[in-house]
Formats: sequence, C-alpha cells, structure tokens
Amino acid sequence: NWTTGNVIEEQVAAIRELVGDKRAICGLSGGVDSAVAAALVQKAIGSQLTCVYVDHGLMRKGETEQVEKDFVAATGVQLKVVDAEERFLKALAGVSDPEEKRKVIGREFIRVFEQAQAEIIADEGPAVEFLVQGTLYPDVVESGGGTGTANIKSHHNVGGLPEDLEFKLIEPLRKLFKDEVRMVGQELGLPEEIVQRQPFPGPGLGIRIVGEVTKERLDLLREADAIAREELTAAGLDRDIWQCPVVLLADVRSVGVQGDGRTYGHPIVLRPVSSEDAMTADWSRLPYDVLARISTRITNEVRDVNRVVLDVTSKPPGTIEWE
Ligand code: XMP
Repeated sequence: NWTTGNVIEEQVAAIRELVGDKRAICGLSGGVDSAVAAALVQKAIGSQLTCVYVDHGLMRKGETEQVEKDFVAATGVQLKVVDAEERFLKALAGVSDPEEKRKVIGREFIRVFEQAQAEIIADEGPAVEFLVQGTLYPDVVESGGGTGTANIKSHHNVGGLPEDLEFKLIEPLRKLFKDEVRMVGQELGLPEEIVQRQPFPGPGLGIRIVGEVTKERLDLLREADAIAREELTAAGLDRDIWQCPVVLLADVRSVGVQGDGRTYGHPIVLRPVSSEDAMTADWSRLPYDVLARISTRITNEVRDVNRVVLDVTSKPPGTIEWE
C-alpha cells in the first residue's frame, strides 16, 4: 500500500543499489521537483551527491537564499552555487522578444551548468556517472516517455538539461504526481516554502518584464512580487490560487499623481489564476480588499510604479505568463 514512507524506503534502496560507490550530480532550480528528487538521493547516497544551483539573477526575492540556506540545512546536501547574474544580464541586454529571451536564458544556463559539472567531475573522487532529474509521472506521459513538458512556448525547464550528456539518469519521482511529491518532500523534512511552492517558470522574472531585462527593472519587479505574495499568503489564499504572476510593463508609462506631484511611472499587472494543470486556467476572483491592499502597498512602496492592474483573461485565449 502507498505511503510516503514506503516510497522513500523503496527509492533509497534502489538508488543505493544503482549508484554503488560512484557519484551523482543534480541541478536545483528552486522548484519542488528538483528539491525533492535531490533530497531523496541525498538520503540514499549522502556525500556521493553534489547539487548545482545556478543563480541567474532572475529569481524572486528570498528564493536563492531558501535554496542556499534552508534547503542545505534541512538535507545536509553538498551544494555548489554559481553566481551567474552578471553573465545572464549581459546576455539579455537589448533582448525584448519573449522567445529570444527564453533562448538566451536556456543557452546560458546550459553553459554555466556544464562548466560547474566539469569542475565537479574534475574533483577528487569516484567517477560521476549519474544525473538526478525531478521528472514526474505527468511529464513521462505527456512527452511519450521522455522528459520535459510540452507547451506552445519553448519551455526551458531550468534544471532541464542538454541531451548529449553521457550520464545515466536517476528519476526517483517518475511514478509520482505533484501532490505525492509534496508529501514525500514534507516527510523528508524540507522547508514548507519549498514543498508548497507554486509553479514558477525556469526563465524566472526574465519573462515577467515586458521589454528589456535590466537589473533595475528586476529589483523593482522583485519588490512588487514580494508584496503580492506576502498579502496573498497573509490572506490564506495560497492554496486557492494556482499561481499569480506579477508582471512589469517596462515599456509602458502612464501619468499619475502622488503627494502633490505628477508621476510618469510603470504599471504592474497581477495575474492570479486557478488551474488544474496549467493547460487551461481561469482568472481568480480574489477578494477586493486583498487586491486593494496589494495595490496600495505596491504603489506606495515600489519606486516608479504608479498603477496596478488586474488581468481578467482566462487561458485560452491568454496564456498564464505574459511572455
Ligand atoms: P503559459 O504561460 O504557457 O504557462 O500558460 C503554463 C505554465 O508553464 C509555466 N511556464 C514555464 N515553465 N519554463 C518553465 O519551466 C518556461 O519557459 C515557462 N513558461 C511558462 C507557467 O508559469 C505556467 O505554470
């Protein structure tokens, strides 16, 4: 019979048997799947596993720290963090086309990851023969047995990897659905903020800035996003909402008034949606008082933002993300 305890025990035994005295690596994205997969493999083979986290500078406020500190504290995993913010910003300079952004981010991610991987392989120790991936059952089904998810946008699941690698894959979540993965993560003692995290796109905030991605715009969006998340959590709405992208319309300005001065700032879009699987979605009917709090706080606290608007489009015709 299915219990998280059984799943963990079974996987730990199987992974130990498979890996033997060799080493494995795992890319962490900050998301639930890679975190739980890594924690399971860590439980099985301990220091024979090294995790890699590429900080592309496109994460939300506090998320990198959650991986660096809380995840490591909870699992004891060996983690290599690569600070690649500057590199990503440089590569993204002048790019405002959504698909082009995804390509650039995906390409840079693979380069940075491969370099980290080469460094780990070069370290003293047994051969690195295995790569851990957080593939779930729905991913297996959707792609006809392979990995990755199908979508009309070119999804780079950061954490997803080039195909020409000569690693054997360890996919300990291959038979599980998302809610089961969360239960396993909880049982393994992972932080609540990671286990209950809502979906977040691999290219991160890079595809939530309509226009060119710059450090200044990212910082601004990070603040607005943090406020929206704080208020949604405080209102107890996290489980009712599938996810709530917060989008900066960086190329749009509108006139406003603040204090006794005229402003000419950017709009922030709130895109709360409810969904079962992200293939279709409806806009969430959030309570007006929650929307009001978010709007007031964002316009008061985030420099250069003088307007907050609500996206009331379902999917289709709109996608969940704006890019
Ligand atoms: P859309 O915008 O296509 O999004 O309705 C559907 C779901 O996928 C997420 N998403 C991505 N995830 N890489 C990812 O790993 C991507 O490039 C990407 N684009 C969208 C989105 O957040 C939603 O959950």
